[in-house]
Amino acid sequence: MKRSPEELIDQIDVRALPRHVAVIMDGNGRWARKRGLPRVAGHRAGTKAVREVVEGCAELHISALTLYAFSVENWKRPRTEVSTLMSLLKEYLAKELETLCRNNIRLQTIGRTDELDMTVQQELARTIEDTRNNTGMVLTLALNYGGRAEIIDAVNRILANGRKDSVQPMTEQEFAKYLYTSELPDPDLLIRTSGELRISNFLLWQIAYAELFVTDTLWPDFDKRCLYEALIAYQKRERRYGGIEPQLVRSR
Ligand code: FPP
Repeated sequence: MKRSPEELIDQIDVRALPRHVAVIMDGNGRWARKRGLPRVAGHRAGTKAVREVVEGCAELHISALTLYAFSVENWKRPRTEVSTLMSLLKEYLAKELETLCRNNIRLQTIGRTDELDMTVQQELARTIEDTRNNTGMVLTLALNYGGRAEIIDAVNRILANGRKDSVQPMTEQEFAKYLYTSELPDPDLLIRTSGELRISNFLLWQIAYAELFVTDTLWPDFDKRCLYEALIAYQKRERRYGGIEPQLVRSR
């Protein structure tokens, strides 16, 4: 029997939540196909799941949520699908500003957003500005994002800037400052919907020690209940970070 969101939330230890949750939102196309609908109907239904997970994480006071909304590879899709995704994004930003502010959420993006349509860039800039002073959860949308592109962009920034102290070998900590995510902790939990066991070029550097949670649920069906199930599973994991001493997430 399916447990209710209230029953599930009672099982979550609020002192041992992940600081940063990252999500690969997958399965919109399959959700639509199962219903005999066009793929874009799946993306539209997917925006409802975005709302659920954003609100669910904010209500639990999770510090950071990162959503993989459009990858550098997604340009290969039909033009109409790409333009619908961009329209849905603009629509989401316009409609959700009030909710973002009510939940004290600050929006930011990662990825090569300068290559997006100007109208999308303008809507993003407006929402980023309007949520700039919010002090709660940081919602990061990965847009025109690729993990390898991010690492290459970091290397090129380092080469372009020149390092003051170039005789010293670079440390991991220093390198991470050149990534798009320099202001964020690494994800503790990476959720992927629709059952594929792939990373798909998402946050390659940052997920080194993330706990992975893959669910067969298709993204448009993902709701707060699914989020709570992922958090409960996360809290049962032992994190060893390459050592031998298990650190039960709950005991942190
Ligand atoms: C993957 O499903 C999903 C995407 C490429 C886009 C995700 C976009 C949204 C959820 C809607 C808009 C986003 C925001 C932030 C408002 P797929 O099309 O690859 O599914 P499939 O593998 O079943 O074909």
